[in-house]
Amino acid sequence: MEIKVITKSKEQTKELGLKLGKLAKPQMVFTLTGDLGAGKTTLTQGIAKGLNIEKTVSSPTFTICKIYHGRMDLFHFDAYRLEGLHQDLGFEEMIQGDGLTVIEWPMYIEELIGDEYLEIEIRLLDEDEREFVLKSNGKQYEELLGELTI
Ligand SMILES: Nc1ncnc2c1ncn2[C@@H]1O[C@H](COP(=O)(O)OP(=O)(O)OP(=O)(O)O)[C@@H](O)[C@H]1O
Ligand SMILES: [Mg+2]
Repeated sequence: MEIKVITKSKEQTKELGLKLGKLAKPQMVFTLTGDLGAGKTTLTQGIAKGLNIEKTVSSPTFTICKIYHGRMDLFHFDAYRLEGLHQDLGFEEMIQGDGLTVIEWPMYIEELIGDEYLEIEIRLLDEDEREFVLKSNGKQYEELLGELTI
């Protein structure tokens, strides 16, 4: 299943994230692709809110992964700095843990991501306008998209 959503501000993007966070179940994986400044971290801030996480999610660029505790844990990856570095950094355990894993720049840790995940592609349409293409890979993600009300 594929759903397209257009947002016209970062607040609207956080709203979309909030809805996705509310629908997330343990062990789910969301991948976020899109250019620098597309809105991957902004969407993740909304997702965190949907998990009842009170801390503000910031860009984890220099740490690769940050963990936040809420209704369930959020593992927020930003693999940007891992480009070309195919090393076992011990992230599998985290991804298989009970939280929700959200990955910015998933192409750089492709080998860690299984067959089932929610693929979120962000396209820049205008300064404040973004198109989100949400694509399910696997049954539980199809169900999630089926429950999403825009
Ligand atoms: N509709 C929108 N949705 C999300 N962000 C928007 C929107 N319109 C404008 N913006 C702005 O775009 C920027 C998005 O930044 P953000 O850090 O979320 O991007 P990113 O995809 O995580 O980038 P990076 O690849 O550097 O991590 C913010 O400055 C935000 O204010
Ligand atoms: Mg980011």
